[in-house]
Amino acid sequence: METVRVIRTVREMHRVADRMRENGFRIGLVPTMGYLHGGHASLIRQIGRVTDRTVVSVFVNPAQFGPGEDFETYPRDFERDKAIVQAGGGTLVYAPSTSEMYPDGYATYLEVERLADHLCGASRPGHFRGVATVVTKLFAAVKPHVTILGQKDAQQAGIVRRLVRDLNLDVDILIAPTVREVDGLAKSSRNRYLTPCQRRRATVIYTALQEGRELVLNGERRASVVIDAMNRRVRRCPDLGVDYIAAVDAENFRPVEAFGARVLLAAAVRCGQSRLIDNIVVETEGQPVQELR
Ligand code: PAF
Repeated sequence: METVRVIRTVREMHRVADRMRENGFRIGLVPTMGYLHGGHASLIRQIGRVTDRTVVSVFVNPAQFGPGEDFETYPRDFERDKAIVQAGGGTLVYAPSTSEMYPDGYATYLEVERLADHLCGASRPGHFRGVATVVTKLFAAVKPHVTILGQKDAQQAGIVRRLVRDLNLDVDILIAPTVREVDGLAKSSRNRYLTPCQRRRATVIYTALQEGRELVLNGERRASVVIDAMNRRVRRCPDLGVDYIAAVDAENFRPVEAFGARVLLAAAVRCGQSRLIDNIVVETEGQPVQELR
């Protein structure tokens, strides 16, 4: 079997994207930073069902890492990534170099206001400016009709949705459910940093989110009570550091005081070298409401 095609330059990506469009193909883009796992494989399969050609971008974007973060050590394995793209039915891998994406003199960055004020936007200043910039550049290069993002990065998905709307970009966005390991831990390239003991402990993140959801579904509506319970659950585990555990509006990511129709319970937890994030949406429509005291 022929190995999947790799494109390294914007110019060639434009040429190939134009040709695919001229031939009437619908292009799907799965943006990634590589070190692909089952979550990415699932995105590749899902977008393949609604497009004719699937482009997977593999680019570890320096603009979304802050000083002291793991840009240098972010896991990379390009041969394995290509094999996963191929197995998932992907058409090609777009893997530009850093200098191709940000040549000398590069000066343009995109800021999506307000949506980045909380959660990861607050604990990783500049992160979403880097994400918004690179995603827009990937759209410009690949010219996709459709892109797909994971619900695990809910705030990122919300920000990309906003920028597509605000800049009138002609790209449909699919949001795919979080793919989890059998014990509930959300799949992430950063899970590979975990020692076996940290890996076991990391499962508490999803347990805490589920506990939060249970409380709400049993009638609790005070966000502070739910957040305290989740915090207690995570902090009981040694070696875990909480970046944030929050209840926010699922659309604008602003903290809520009481549970309304759609609330995102979100957590970012440091576990050894890894910073792991996860979230679940809690819908209270039709659920019993307990009075606020
Ligand atoms: O979610 C990611 O892997 C990255 O933030 C993305 C969307 C590929 C941009 O670099």
